[in-house]
Amino acid sequence: MVAFLLVLGVHGICNVSNDGLMACKPAIQNDNPVDQPSKTCCKALKYANVTCLCEYKDSYMLRTLDINSTRAMELPYMCKTATAPIDCTSARHG
Ligand SMILES: *[C@@H]1O[C@H](CO)[C@@H](O)[C@H](O)[C@H]1NC(C)=O
Ligand SMILES: *[C@@H]1O[C@H](CO)[C@@H](O)[C@H](O)[C@H]1NC(C)=O
Ligand SMILES: *[C@@H]1O[C@H](CO)[C@@H](O)[C@H](O)[C@H]1NC(C)=O
Repeated sequence: MVAFLLVLGVHGICNVSNDGLMACKPAIQNDNPVDQPSKTCCKALKYANVTCLCEYKDSYMLRTLDINSTRAMELPYMCKTATAPIDCTSARHG
């Protein structure tokens, strides 16, 4: 967790604040994830840069954190801010 915060720095990633990411973690961790992300998490996700999130999808960082990237990509869907999970194949550019 400490390493995670160090990697992220103070600004969070992909326009999601550190607080937002931490609020989302229970819903996307491998170990006993909760069914629904919290309101705080969903609010933080609203402005997330999806292209950027996709770049983190298979990152060492997420594995270190024990985050399930499949669930991570489903977050906007779980929050009902999107009608489908993030599709990184189409979101990726270049
Ligand atoms: C990750 O989440 C997906 C969707 O909830 C689930 O099907 C899969 O088994 C999970 N993988 C791990 C390693 O927990
Ligand atoms: C980043 O998030 C803020 C709100 O937290 C929002 O006002 C801004 O438009 C977002 N930036 C981008 C590039 O999406
Ligand atoms: C979203 O992230 C991508 C990849 O990191 C970056 O190239 C792009 O400029 C970002 N978009 C916005 C609106 O910040």
